[in-house]
Amino acid sequence: MSEDLSRNERIKEASNYLRGTLAEGLRREITGAINEDDAQLVKFHGMYLQDDRDLRPERTRKKMEKAFAFMIRVRVPGGNLATAQWLALDRVARDYGNGTVRLTTRQSVQLHGVIKSNLRPTLQAIDAVLLSSISACGDVNRNVMCNPNPHESRAHAAALDLARAISDHLTPRTPAYREIWLDGERIIGGEDEVVEPIYGKTYLPRKFKIVVAVPPSNDVDVFAHDLGFIAILDSNGHVRGWNVTAGGGMGMTHGEPETYPRTADIMGFCATGDVLAIAEAVVTVQRDWGDRGNRKHARLKYTIEDRGLDAFRAEVERRAGVKLDPAKPFVFTSTGDRYGWTEGEDGRGHLTLFIGNGRVRDAGPGAQQLSALRRIAELHDSDFRITANQNLMVASVPPQRRAAIEQIAASNALLAPRSGLRRNSMACVALPTCGLALAESERYLPDLLDALDARLAAYGLSADDIVIRMTGCPNGCARPYLAEIGLVGKGSSRYNLYLGASFDGSRLSKLYAEDVDHAAIIERIDPLFATYAAERKVGEHFGDFVIRSGFVARTTNGRDFHANVGARRAA
Ligand code: HEM
Ligand code: SF4
Repeated sequence: MSEDLSRNERIKEASNYLRGTLAEGLRREITGAINEDDAQLVKFHGMYLQDDRDLRPERTRKKMEKAFAFMIRVRVPGGNLATAQWLALDRVARDYGNGTVRLTTRQSVQLHGVIKSNLRPTLQAIDAVLLSSISACGDVNRNVMCNPNPHESRAHAAALDLARAISDHLTPRTPAYREIWLDGERIIGGEDEVVEPIYGKTYLPRKFKIVVAVPPSNDVDVFAHDLGFIAILDSNGHVRGWNVTAGGGMGMTHGEPETYPRTADIMGFCATGDVLAIAEAVVTVQRDWGDRGNRKHARLKYTIEDRGLDAFRAEVERRAGVKLDPAKPFVFTSTGDRYGWTEGEDGRGHLTLFIGNGRVRDAGPGAQQLSALRRIAELHDSDFRITANQNLMVASVPPQRRAAIEQIAASNALLAPRSGLRRNSMACVALPTCGLALAESERYLPDLLDALDARLAAYGLSADDIVIRMTGCPNGCARPYLAEIGLVGKGSSRYNLYLGASFDGSRLSKLYAEDVDHAAIIERIDPLFATYAAERKVGEHFGDFVIRSGFVARTTNGRDFHANVGARRAA
C-alpha cells in the first residue's frame, strides 16, 4: 500500500473484512478497553470505545484504568421502530447500559455505558428484535433517514420504503458482525467482490450519510448530508420521482479553514426505479475518488469541491446507466417537528412528543420519561418514529387510546414546551461520554435556554420559532451550522457563536462571536433579539433578519464559510 494512505486505510485493509482482533480483544479480561486498531474497527459494528470523562481525574489519582464503556448505536432506517423493539431497547438500556436511551439527530438510538463483558448479550438482545448496529458508525453508509410526516401519508410510505431499500442495498455484507457478536459460524470469505461487492476491502474513505426528504418539511436536513433524495409529488400527493442532492456535510476543525461545513448541491431528478442505481453509483464514485490520505478531506463534499459537480454527475450517470433530468421545483418551509396530535388518513392519530436533547431517562417525579414511554409502548402495540430533531412520535394511535397516551405524556413532561426556541433546539451528547468534546452540550443547553427564554419573553418573542443547536466540538453532530443560532464548543465553557442560517435548512450560518462563555453569549444575543422584535418584517425568520440587518454576511457555500463579517457586527 502507498505510504500516502491514512492509518485507518491500513487498518481496514488488514482487518479481514472488519474482523481485526475483536474476538480476541473481547476475551481479554485484564482491561475494559480494546486495542487501538480494533477501536477503529468496532465503529463499523456500530460501537465507540469511550470512557466516563467525569471520572478521569479521580481514576488517574488512584492510578486506575479509565472507566471504559462502549456506546452502541442502533440502526433504525427512517426512525421507524415497532413498539416491541422499543421495549427491547428500553430493557437493554436498563440491564446493560446507563439506564438512558438517547435518540439521535439521525433517527437512531444510542445506548451508553455498556461495559465490554456486556457487549455480546446486549447485541444479542438487539438482534432478537431484528435490529442491528452494523455500520451505524464507521466508513460506510450509516443510518438512512426519512421524514416521518404523517400529513403526506402516501408519500411518506414511499419515502420510508425507499429509505429501507437504500439501507438494505448499502449494508455491508461481511459476516464479521454475526460471527463476533452473535455466535455466528465462521463463514469463509470468497472472492473480495463477493464479500463486499459495493465497498471492497477498504470500504469508503470516510463516513457516508443518506436521507430522504418529503417537502414541505426539511426535518432530515437534506443539505447536511452526503446524498439526499427529495420527493417530488404530483397534485394527488403521489411521488413522481426524486431530486438528488450530493455533497453536504457538517464537520470541520477549529483553526483549519481548509475544513468547512457545506450544503449539498442539487444534481438533478430521477425516477423511483433508478434510485438504487444512483445511490450505488454515488457511493462507488466516492469510494474511488475520495481522499484516502487525509481523513479531514475525505468526505464527499471535498471530492465534489475538488472535481466539480459536473464531472461528478457525469461519472455517476455513467456508472448508474441513468441520465438525470433537470431538478424539479419544490419548497421547504422548515426543519422542525410538528408537535402534538396530527390526523392520519385512516382515522388514527400521531402524537409527536418533545424529548429534550433526545435523552430519555427517569429524572424524578413528573419526568419519568423512560418509564412513561415504556408504559405507552406496552399499551400501544404499533410503532414509534424517531424524528430527525431528537423527538419521538407515537404513531397510528386509534381514537380509544388517545386520552390514555396523552395523559401519560402530559404527566411526564413529554408534551412540547411553549418556548419557540426550546421547541426548535438540539444538542449533541458531548460530555461526559464523547471523547472529542471540548465543551458541554447536552448538559448545558437547557440552562442556556432558560436564560435566553427570559430575554425572549422580555421582547414578546417567546412563542416565535427560532432554531438553536449546540455541539461540544466542531464536528457538528447536531448540525449547528444549519441553525439560526449555532453554538460550537471551543474549550471548557466557551463556544463559537454562529448566526444567519435559514429556517428551511438551505443556507449555512456565519461566525458571529468567538470564544464566548455563558454571560457573553447572552450579552451578544440579547441586543439581536431586541432589534429583531423592533425591526423584523412580517413573517421574517431570525436567521434571515440578522443577514438583512447586516449583523452577519450571507454564506453562499462551503469554502466561503469562514469569510465574514457583516457591517453591524458588534466589536
Ligand atoms: C466529522 C466528524 C465527526 C466525528 C468524529 C463524530 C463523532 C461522534 C462521536 C464520538 C459521537 C458519540 C458521542 C456520544 O454519544 O457519546 C457522535 C455522536 C453523534 N454524531 Fe457524530 N461525529 C462527527 C460528525 C457528525 C455529523 C456531521 C453528524 C450529523 C450530521 C453526526 C451525527 C451524530 C449523531 C446523530 C450522534 C449521536 C448523538 C447526537 O444525537 O448528537 N456526527 N459523533
Ligand atoms: S459534536 Fe463533537 S462533542 Fe458533540 S457528539 Fe459530536 S463529536 Fe462529540
